[in-house]
Amino acid sequence: MPNSSPRHFLTLLDLTPNELHWVIQRAIELKQIRNSKTLYEPFRNQVLAMIFQKSSTRTRVSFEAGMAQQGGHAIFLSPRDTHLGRGEPIADSARVISSMADIVMIRTFAHAQVEEFAAHSKVPVINALTDDYHPCQLLADIQTFVEHRGSISGKTVTWIGDGNNMCHSFINAAKQFNFKLNVACPDGYLPNTQLMANNADRVHLVQDPKQAVIGSHLVVTDTWASMGQEDEKKARETAFEDYQVNPTLMDLAEPEALFMHCLPAYRGLEVSHDMLSDPRSVVYDEAENRLHAQKALMEFLLLQPQV
Ligand code: CP
Ligand code: NVA
Repeated sequence: MPNSSPRHFLTLLDLTPNELHWVIQRAIELKQIRNSKTLYEPFRNQVLAMIFQKSSTRTRVSFEAGMAQQGGHAIFLSPRDTHLGRGEPIADSARVISSMADIVMIRTFAHAQVEEFAAHSKVPVINALTDDYHPCQLLADIQTFVEHRGSISGKTVTWIGDGNNMCHSFINAAKQFNFKLNVACPDGYLPNTQLMANNADRVHLVQDPKQAVIGSHLVVTDTWASMGQEDEKKARETAFEDYQVNPTLMDLAEPEALFMHCLPAYRGLEVSHDMLSDPRSVVYDEAENRLHAQKALMEFLLLQPQV
């Protein structure tokens, strides 16, 4: 049954640090359950509505597979085939969809759209990427770090490249998971000023990538041109040409440093051709962990465990 006042996951700040730690530990457990082929169906009769206004491989497959594996069902909704693409107001769509589905996942452009949907939804809403944030990816990334290296608390992470939605979610993660974040972005592509100011105690702008990675336990990058920025691709390739992550740059980080990228990656641009196959790269673990982390998130939102 829907809550009278559902919890949402629009950014990492919607859960407390304690709740986020629960989700990460639960994701690790759910991975073991899946790997042991144990039947576990806590989502029986539950329906996830998945609204995609941008492309996706990992997010769609992980949410849809995760719902099916845990006994529920997922409905894929694209703007081409629904009235969302023909101008039906978000508030009306939210009221209608949330009267039939038990949980909703949205990937869209303006972050305000997921906020508006959530404000009119009777059921939990998950942000599956907006222009501003990608919090689901961070759950998978933190799970991946914990699995490889233990707690991320007190560690140093370096973000290289565009001050985009992933960078913003890493800034929120620095606060919620208690790590230091160096941000190396060129002028004109810095993260949100207010977000940087709000986290000035632990997030630092170090624009030279070589300086930024020194002392880092994790180095992260992402595409230089996000979805919706296709027209800027050439200009961005010029602006970011000194910001490629490659094994030589990684050699300046801590010896046990890991490399992450949410994927899709563009070899020869933000990463060298050999970076994803470098032993320090955990990008395919990150991708798989989307499945486990989002199952844990949906358990948290749907089943409301005592945390
Ligand atoms: N990392 C990620 O969200 O990938 P997709 O765009 O393929 O969903
Ligand atoms: N920053 C990228 C992430 C893709 C998963 C984008 O928004 O396109």
